[in-house]
Amino acid sequence: MTNEPSEAQIAVHWREEAYYPPTAKFIAQANAADPDILERFSEPNFPECFKEYADLLSWDKYWHTTLDTTDPPFWKWFVGGRLNACYNCVDRHLTTSRNRAALIWVPEPESEQTSAITYQELYRRVNEFAALLRDFGGVRTGDRVTFHLPMVPELPVSMLACARLGVIHSEVFGGFSGAACGGRVADSGSNILVTMDGYYRNGELVDHKVKADEAVATARELGHEVDKVLVWRRHPNSYASKSPMVEGRDFFIDDLLPDFRGAVVEPVSMPAEAPLFLMYTSGTTGRPKGCQHSTGGYLAYVAGTSKYYQDIHPEDTYWCAADIGWITGHSYIVYGPLALGTTSVLYEGVPTYPDPGRLWRIAERLGVNIFHTAPTTIRMLRKVGPDESAKYRYRFKHMTTVGEPIEPEVWRWYHDVVGKGEAAIVDTWWQTETGGFLGSTLPALQPMKPGSCGPGVLGIYPVIYDEDGETIEAGSDRAGNICIRNPWPGIFQTIWGQPERFVDIYYSKYNRRNSTDWQDWPYFAGDGAVQAADGYFRILGRVDDVINVAGHRLGTKELESAALTVNEIAEAAAVPVMDEVRGRAVEMYVALKPGLSAGAGIEAKVSEAIVREIGKIARPKSVWIVTDMPKTRSGKIMRRVIAGISNFTDVGDVTTLANPEIVDDIRHHVQSEKLTRGEVPRDLSPQEAEEIKSFGRAE
Ligand code: PRX
Repeated sequence: MTNEPSEAQIAVHWREEAYYPPTAKFIAQANAADPDILERFSEPNFPECFKEYADLLSWDKYWHTTLDTTDPPFWKWFVGGRLNACYNCVDRHLTTSRNRAALIWVPEPESEQTSAITYQELYRRVNEFAALLRDFGGVRTGDRVTFHLPMVPELPVSMLACARLGVIHSEVFGGFSGAACGGRVADSGSNILVTMDGYYRNGELVDHKVKADEAVATARELGHEVDKVLVWRRHPNSYASKSPMVEGRDFFIDDLLPDFRGAVVEPVSMPAEAPLFLMYTSGTTGRPKGCQHSTGGYLAYVAGTSKYYQDIHPEDTYWCAADIGWITGHSYIVYGPLALGTTSVLYEGVPTYPDPGRLWRIAERLGVNIFHTAPTTIRMLRKVGPDESAKYRYRFKHMTTVGEPIEPEVWRWYHDVVGKGEAAIVDTWWQTETGGFLGSTLPALQPMKPGSCGPGVLGIYPVIYDEDGETIEAGSDRAGNICIRNPWPGIFQTIWGQPERFVDIYYSKYNRRNSTDWQDWPYFAGDGAVQAADGYFRILGRVDDVINVAGHRLGTKELESAALTVNEIAEAAAVPVMDEVRGRAVEMYVALKPGLSAGAGIEAKVSEAIVREIGKIARPKSVWIVTDMPKTRSGKIMRRVIAGISNFTDVGDVTTLANPEIVDDIRHHVQSEKLTRGEVPRDLSPQEAEEIKSFGRAE
C-alpha cells in the first residue's frame, strides 16, 4: 500500500439531482407496484425472501435449505433442489405460449429478413443441437464447451442446448481476439469450440472462423488440445471465411444437423448448485477470471429481477441491445426474459448502422416496449443523432442503463428524448460476478434520480466501508468501497479452478472472523461509491486496476502483457483517459529496451499486439514512448502520475518518486503532442479527478 489518501478521506461534492417519479400509467401495470414487496424483502426476512424468486421457476424437486452457509464464502442456495435451466426457459412455455416469439432476430443488413423464433421452434432447434453436441460431440454433463459466437440466434440455441445437457457453457465475446478466446478455452478445459464462419458488423461480413484457428493454436501453446471445432454458417451452405476447414477437427453444423432432425433430448435434472456457465472477466492480475454461475440460484435471481426491475410481462416485447457475450446478455437477453416466457429481441450489428436511426426503426417496427442499453451507446446516439428518435413512433414504457456511470445530462437526454418523457428508467449497477442487479430503483415504487443507481435492490443490503472497515454513513458526502453485506442467489460460486483467488479478491479485505455467520463475510465489489442521505448510491467506478471502456472491463495487466509481446518493449503501463463517448479510453505508455530508439512504427506494433491479444475494443487511443516510467523507490510504476498527465490533471505529490525529474519530460512530450492533435482537455468532475488521482492505488 502507498501513502495515498484512502477513499474514506476523500470528500465528494456534487449537486443533488431532482427526483423523477414514474408515471401513473407505468405504475398501473407494473409487476412491483405494491409496497408490501419492500417489507417482504427486508432484512429480517432474509434469506427466505428469495423463495419468492425461486418460486418463479419449475423445480423437478423442491429444495430443503434456502441458504447453506457452512463453508463461507462458498454459499449454497436452494440446497436439495433440482431443475433444468433449459426446461425453465423453453419447454415449460410450450403449453401456453408455443406460438409466441421467444426471440426476434434482426440481422444487421436491412435487406435481410428479420426472423421470429417461436418457443416451439426454439424447442426444436435446441433439442437438435443438444443431440448433436451429445452424440457427435461426445460431451457429458459437467463438461465445458466454449463458444465464440456473435449476436445470432445460434448463440442462445447453443447456450440452451448445453443447459439442457447439464454441460457448462463459456461464451467468449465475439469481438475478442482468437488468442483471448484460446486462453479461455484452455482455462476452462473445453474440448469443443463452437464458432461461426462470419457475421455482419458495420456493413461488412467479418471473417470470424479464422479466430478459431488462432484460439486452437493458443490453447495448444498452453498445453490444451481442442478436439472439435463446430462451425455454424451465417448463411447455411455458403462459407464466409477464408480459413480452411481442418479435416477431422472442423465441422459445419448445418451439414451435421439433418442427422438429428426431430431429436428429443430429455432435459437433465441438475442440482441447484450445479454450475450453469462460466463468464470470463478481467481482474487485477493478468489471468482472466472464469466466474462460475450456478443453475438454481442464478436462474431464480435473473428471473426475479427481470420481473420486478425490468418489469417484464410475457406479452411485452423486450429488447436489451447488449451483446450476449457479456453477462448482461446472459442474464437479461437470454436467461431472465426467457424464464419469464417473454419475447426477447436480438440485433446482430452496430447501433448506428447504416444510420443513427437504426435502433429506433427496429423499436418502431417490432413494437418494442422495454429497452435496455449502456451509457456508451446513449452518449454516442446523443452525439450523432440527437433528433433521430423523435422521427419514430415507438413507445417505451421502461428503459435501462447499465455498465458504467451515466452523467446526469446524458440521463436526462435518455429520459426526455429516447424515452419521450414516458418511460421509467432503471440505472442498474452490478457486475459479471454478481449474476444480476445489485443497485437500482424499483421502477414503480422508488423515484429515479439521474446519476444514481438507487438503493440496494430487493434482498441486497449494501454498505460503504472505508479502508479500515468502518462504515461510512449515508449523507456524509464521503466515498468509500461499496460492499454487499449478505449473500444472494445470483452471486457467482467461485473463480473456475482458482478458489483461493476467489476468497482473496472478493472477501479477504473485509472478512472479520472466520465464522459461518454470513454477517462476517461482506462481498467486496471493487467499486468506489457514495451514499446520499436518501439511501441512493452513486457509483464512482473501479478502485482496482480495471479500466471500464464503453462498459467493458479491461485489466491494466492484460493490456500491459499484450504490449510486452512486442520485442522492443521493456516496460508498459496502461492508464484511462476520459472519452466523450466511450466513458474511458486506454492510453499506453511504453519504455523501450536499452539501446533502442523510437521510430519504426513501434506505436502501431503495440496497438496491433493489443488487438491481437485482447480484441479491437482494447485498441489504445494513443501509445506514448517514454525514456523511463515514473517509479517509486521500490520500482513500482506510478500509474496515477501518468494518468494525471494523460488527463491534464494534477499529478499529485511526486517528491517520493525515485525519478521525479522524468515527470516534467513526459508531461511536456505528451501534452504538447495532444494539443497539436487538437485533443483539447476538458475540466474533469470531482469524481473523475478523484478516479485519476487514485488510479493504480489498489496495487
Ligand atoms: O464499475 C462498475 C461498472 O461496471 C463494473 C462491472 O463490469 P462488468 O463485470 O463488465 O459488468 C457490466 C454489466 C453489469 C462495475 O464494477 N458498472 C456496472 N453498472 C454500473 C456501473 N457503474 C456505474 N453505474 C452502473 N449502473
